[in-house]
Amino acid sequence: MQIAPSVLAADFTKLGQEIQRVSGADYLHLDIMDGHFVPNISYGPGVVAALRPLTSLPFDVHLMLDHPLEYVPAFLKAGADLITFHVECKDPIDETLAAIHNGGAKAGLVLKPATPAEALWPWLDKIDLAMVMTVEPGFGGQSFMEPMMDKVREIKKKAPSLLVEADGGINDTTIQLCAEAGVDICVAGTGVFRAENAEEAL
Ligand code: DX5
Ligand code: ZN
Repeated sequence: MQIAPSVLAADFTKLGQEIQRVSGADYLHLDIMDGHFVPNISYGPGVVAALRPLTSLPFDVHLMLDHPLEYVPAFLKAGADLITFHVECKDPIDETLAAIHNGGAKAGLVLKPATPAEALWPWLDKIDLAMVMTVEPGFGGQSFMEPMMDKVREIKKKAPSLLVEADGGINDTTIQLCAEAGVDICVAGTGVFRAENAEEAL
């Protein structure tokens, strides 16, 4: 199981040090919120670019935006290795996937809890990864939605070689459920950055 710590739960007064604490992870997960797609605002490409020289971890940028397409170039420039955006967004999905791929990054589609797995089926041959939200997007520190593991199983059954990431409410206990369902990458904010020992929590 690979781990992608979510910077949203880090101490923003010392982001540089926080990034060093998770250098043993597999990715760094960066949550981008626009205050429209989700009822919260996080940080933008400037912060992502500032963090880029501080770590060699691949950047997993999660765009919770109504209009991801216009921001793809900024996040590519900021150093994103993987860009995921929501199938529920208001932009054309094929064009957004193409913009990410043409910029040399991997592309993934994300499903909110209420969106069924079938929403991914038209894009299976165009995506590198699927991400299943295991909380309602917008905030860290929420409880893991166990029924989402059925969605993970459905995706793995339809597309066994597609990487599946799960995002939200993942801790020592719920990571087991993810492993059993076949999740490849777990995003963990609170579970890593708010643990007593972030290095051990990885
Ligand atoms: C929620 C974000 C998650 C969140 C995870 O909108 O996409 O990545 O930061 O945080 P925890 O692990 O605290 O649920
Ligand atoms: Zn996220």
